[in-house]
Amino acid sequence: MRLPFFPVTRGCRTVVALRQTPFLSPRLKSTALSSRDSHLHEDKSFFITTPIFYVNASPHLGHLYSAVIADCVHRCKLLQGFNSRFATGTDEHGLKIQQAAEAAGKDPVNFCSDVSERFRGLFRSCNISHTDYIRTTEQRHRRAVEHFWVELWNKGLIYKGCYEGWYSTQDESFLMPSQVGDALDSGGKEIKVSLESGHKVEWVKEENYMFRLSAFRSQLLDWLRGNPGVIQPKRFHQAVLLWLQEDLPDLSVSRQRSRLQWGIPVPGDAEQTIYVWLDALVNYLTVAGYPDGHDRWWHAAHHVIGKDILKFHAIYWPAFLLGAGLPLPQVIHVHSHWTVAGKKMSKSLGNVVDPLEHSRMFTTDGMRYFLLRQGVPDSDCDYTVDKVIKLLNAELADSLGGLLNRCTAPALNQAQVYPSFCSQSFPQEHGGRAVSEDYRMLDAVRSLPGVVVKHYESLHVYKALEAIGACVRQTNGFVQRHTPWKLDRRDDGDQRWLDTIMHVSLECLRIYGTLLQPVVPQISSKLLTRIGVQPGERSWGALDFLPRYRGLDCPFEGRPLGSDSGVLFSRLESQDVDGQKQKKTKKCAHLR
Ligand code: ME8
Ligand code: MG
Repeated sequence: MRLPFFPVTRGCRTVVALRQTPFLSPRLKSTALSSRDSHLHEDKSFFITTPIFYVNASPHLGHLYSAVIADCVHRCKLLQGFNSRFATGTDEHGLKIQQAAEAAGKDPVNFCSDVSERFRGLFRSCNISHTDYIRTTEQRHRRAVEHFWVELWNKGLIYKGCYEGWYSTQDESFLMPSQVGDALDSGGKEIKVSLESGHKVEWVKEENYMFRLSAFRSQLLDWLRGNPGVIQPKRFHQAVLLWLQEDLPDLSVSRQRSRLQWGIPVPGDAEQTIYVWLDALVNYLTVAGYPDGHDRWWHAAHHVIGKDILKFHAIYWPAFLLGAGLPLPQVIHVHSHWTVAGKKMSKSLGNVVDPLEHSRMFTTDGMRYFLLRQGVPDSDCDYTVDKVIKLLNAELADSLGGLLNRCTAPALNQAQVYPSFCSQSFPQEHGGRAVSEDYRMLDAVRSLPGVVVKHYESLHVYKALEAIGACVRQTNGFVQRHTPWKLDRRDDGDQRWLDTIMHVSLECLRIYGTLLQPVVPQISSKLLTRIGVQPGERSWGALDFLPRYRGLDCPFEGRPLGSDSGVLFSRLESQDVDGQKQKKTKKCAHLR
């Protein structure tokens, strides 16, 4: 992928710079670059965002994926005692939305409200715990965008000019000639398309406002080189550095009102509408309170985005922020895309996965677990129903659910209490009845929270879940190895060992349940409730594994277990899932 380029002179007479102020004064440069350090707030504020999604169509699997990733990090931060804020929402202006509303024969205001509500409903039903939901058609956002524009204007960073070049309405993006190729549309007509997205492009030529993007190239390079972890994973950081090796032309940041009415007018020029990407990116500041009191949250901003919008977030956005003298984001977390049965999701292929329908089929937590367990930030992942069923059955129903069943089964735990740990049976020095694999398991579970939190924070959630899964298998192996059901309960030694096996296994489960909360909040809650862990005992601070082994008190020992509220996760059968799908298809056919 290359940087967009649009020649500013071809075919047009002049590029008129209305204000020629020195746009990069040394003062501005130092403010912008040192802002990270100058805001070392003592409070534990954290701010995470998803992209705001276009309302031209209904939400799909990819949208839910971004929201689930951000939700997982937000929940992790809350459990660590952070004051975390989590924003998502909808991007409602621009030509693409204007055209979609027209095509639907609806007034854009109602059209946007309807689709935005669908996103909100999906997030609600999937337990996305956002603290803010922003719509770019809100008044607070318009105020923020206008203020931001005026800041850039006052610094001489916007000038009136003329450009012509390729524009993709579907991507709301400018492209340079090398990014454009030939294709045939559905009617066999020759068209030009974006080589990256495959979307149709058009040649646009008009007078509008330009942002001095070119002036920020070296500052952007300094920022990226000085902060090697700022765009994650690394390959995306490298990609942005490569793009910046090339020419960075100025960017058109408005469209003629006659072509684009659905957007925020340029302050002081009612004939022009602000470019939808400038409008959209400012949403992150709007949520933080901009133009007043945003500092507290803004210095802790983390963005989660898909790889398709990297250029906007890693080049345009930091340049706008540098221009406005505001701190740059702490980290831009990029994730790759979901394909479906090997193909890109698209309306024309009819393979778009409806996340609401699938979360009904697999349960909300099942869906969250699959996306986070299989999703890899570095490379694209493929979604198939069979894969979902196999993974959830193996890891949630059999492995984790099976372990909980064994540890709470009345046959092994008649009193239904958290049993006692006996240090003679499982002494610190090897001996008693424990064997070396058991000691290895304790080591693995003891170090698990550190490993898991590190992976959650770097958004390698699949690695965290892999590590938890490996420990669950070890604990199942521990129970299996010692066959507690064969112990003779009339024998004191056997009874003590039986209780110890159960105590250790429940302690393991307590750690797994606590660590899984950001990923599968409902399943974790069910698990922790069943083993008697109270809501106030589920934070990261409570992750003290097996204190009895170290001779300390365990607050759970002897405590009654919670009531049995049924299976942790019911096994999924392909025919049931197919049945549900068929029912839905029939319903749709009837509606048609
Ligand atoms: O780009 N797999 O909105 P959008 C994974 N409004 N994630 C995917 C995906 C897929 N196949 N498809 C989309 C926009 N996504 C702008 C953003 S932000 C200031 C403005 C996710 O509705 C991914 O996060 O096209 C991607 O970046 C985003 O949805 C694009 O959503
Ligand atoms: Mg898109």
